[in-house]
Amino acid sequence: MRKLAPGTRLVVASHNPGKVWEIHQLIAPYRMAAVSARDLGLPEPEETETTFAGNARLKAVAAASASGLPALADDSGLEVAVLGGAPGIYSARWAGPKKDFSIAMARVKGEIEAAGGWDDKSPPRANFISVLCLAWPDGTAEIFEGRVDGHLVWPPRGGNGFGYDPMFVRDGATETFGEMQPAEKYAISHRTRAFQQFKSAMLDGIEPDAQAEGQGDIAGLAAAAANLSTRAELIRFVANLGEKVENDAGEGAAFAEALRRAAAWLGDDAAEDETRWRLVAKMLLAASGLAARRPDGA
Ligand code: IMP
Repeated sequence: MRKLAPGTRLVVASHNPGKVWEIHQLIAPYRMAAVSARDLGLPEPEETETTFAGNARLKAVAAASASGLPALADDSGLEVAVLGGAPGIYSARWAGPKKDFSIAMARVKGEIEAAGGWDDKSPPRANFISVLCLAWPDGTAEIFEGRVDGHLVWPPRGGNGFGYDPMFVRDGATETFGEMQPAEKYAISHRTRAFQQFKSAMLDGIEPDAQAEGQGDIAGLAAAAANLSTRAELIRFVANLGEKVENDAGEGAAFAEALRRAAAWLGDDAAEDETRWRLVAKMLLAASGLAARRPDGA
């Protein structure tokens, strides 16, 4: 299998700046940079395939052949067994144009009831899945998949995470993904598993730059910052960032206090606009100084 080399510019075949940023954070220690399909002015192909792998491949191949650079695309979602794998590739679309996942979760609950009822004694089986595709300009491509199996709960619980997290409990756990700390979820998530497959196949033999301690927590915070969409998710993010700053060798007590004030302010005031929430999260992460401690400064 062809490997990626240090110095490679990798196109992230997504127009979602959060995703590009998250992938950049993951590959930067290997001295590679992520550039977005949008920055290169590449068109966003329509996701016309019927599987995660099909859509990831379609996006990666289109970006690699248009740019002449290797390209990475991802597709992820929630699959519910009794719904034949739905919402599946439509996971984001079930939340509607405002990306309101309380609507998407209520639809999952409603469709399970319509398909034979919801029985708390035998809760519906579900899994999260993340599929990555790395394509080369000549059209060859590799697929990497990560999944986490579990069941659904109703009502949703917990304000951490994003998307369908508050209604998903992985096997062997009792907390929902929405109740887990971001670093804890990130450590075992479908996305991390897919990235591990990608890393061991594509980055094998490249030594990462020495990483600062606590990178797991920072990766979890980075993933939350890249994916959050609502004010409630930002409030949890700010609180988690404050805890991380405060626990970090006693440094940053003044900043932790500033974050507590910011979280309180967010709780009382401010209008809803998901793109701005993501920007604010990233700004605070940068201001904390935690992300800048990496040797590459990413
Ligand atoms: P994508 O961005 O097109 O891959 O859409 C993925 C959708 O799947 C997201 O908008 C979420 O609804 C859902 N999803 C994927 N991963 C997760 C997760 O870790 N937690 C909760 N929902 C997820």
